[in-house]
Amino acid sequence: MKQFISVKDVANINALVQKALMYKSSPMKDILLGKNKRIGLLFLNPSLRTRLSTQVAAQNLGMEPIVYNVDKEGWSLEFNEGAIMNGTTVEHIKDAAPVLGNYFDILCIRTFPSLQNIEQDYSEKIIHQFIKYAGIPIVSLESATLHPLQSLTDLITIKEAILSNVQLKNKKPKVVLTWAPHIKPIPQCVANSFSEWMITWGEADFVITHPKGYELSSDYTNGATIIQDQDEALKDADFVYVKNWSSYHEYGKVLTTDESWMLTNAKLSKTNNAKVLHCLPVRRNVELSDEILDGNNSLVTMEASNRVWAAQAVLSEILAKIEK
Ligand code: CP
Repeated sequence: MKQFISVKDVANINALVQKALMYKSSPMKDILLGKNKRIGLLFLNPSLRTRLSTQVAAQNLGMEPIVYNVDKEGWSLEFNEGAIMNGTTVEHIKDAAPVLGNYFDILCIRTFPSLQNIEQDYSEKIIHQFIKYAGIPIVSLESATLHPLQSLTDLITIKEAILSNVQLKNKKPKVVLTWAPHIKPIPQCVANSFSEWMITWGEADFVITHPKGYELSSDYTNGATIIQDQDEALKDADFVYVKNWSSYHEYGKVLTTDESWMLTNAKLSKTNNAKVLHCLPVRRNVELSDEILDGNNSLVTMEASNRVWAAQAVLSEILAKIEK
């Protein structure tokens, strides 16, 4: 693997999931793989899980991780070609990225969308400029449109739950991605990415449910069944992935905060005793009820813990391709 920006960078999804589960059972197996290698983790936005799990994963592979909170500690970066930099930006990506490419062997970047400019966000301008100018492998820690490390983690968590349940082992699981209410405009990237991974994986009946106006870009959902009635969508589900996203077509807008979309035990009773996922952070009793988060069907803590194994599997694949 030369980079990790989306599911398209993965040659064999099931093999990558297997590798992650292997690291879960034997975290230090490849402690020498990243010896004398340094990884930079650049954050243009806040993070708890991504930041810490990727550091742990890198250390499990013997790498030295260095975190740089660009948003709080760095020069304000310019991404526009030909910009006359007489405003607030101090350093052009063309100048900064090659320097980072010389300091590190792998560069990981987290950036969010503006939710103001759909063309700019969906062109993935920021991450593509790091790819263009850094000259080393780039890993997305969440970009404007996708969150591939989260989606790999979600699939690992689903696979793990299937492997530990005899009934699920012998059937095609039904996985439902449901929109949930939120008070703020939230990116579409987790939902886009989860949908893209589920469709590419192809081993589940995958259903998306959301209120009218929250249709995601068909670039990520072609192949999914889309049902607007949440109760109907949840029927017989084995896994329910709960996530808010703002409108794609009325870009970045919150069109409704209808609390009847929040998953509760009453709604869960329509499912096949479904396990519940959420990427965290979660707004309790807005996006997801306490009774679900604190109940036996919640996989969210295990899911967040699995972030380490997802990152470790991806970094090990990239390290294997870096010349000694
Ligand atoms: N799920 C996730 O990416 O969490 P953080 O924003 O805390 O990294």
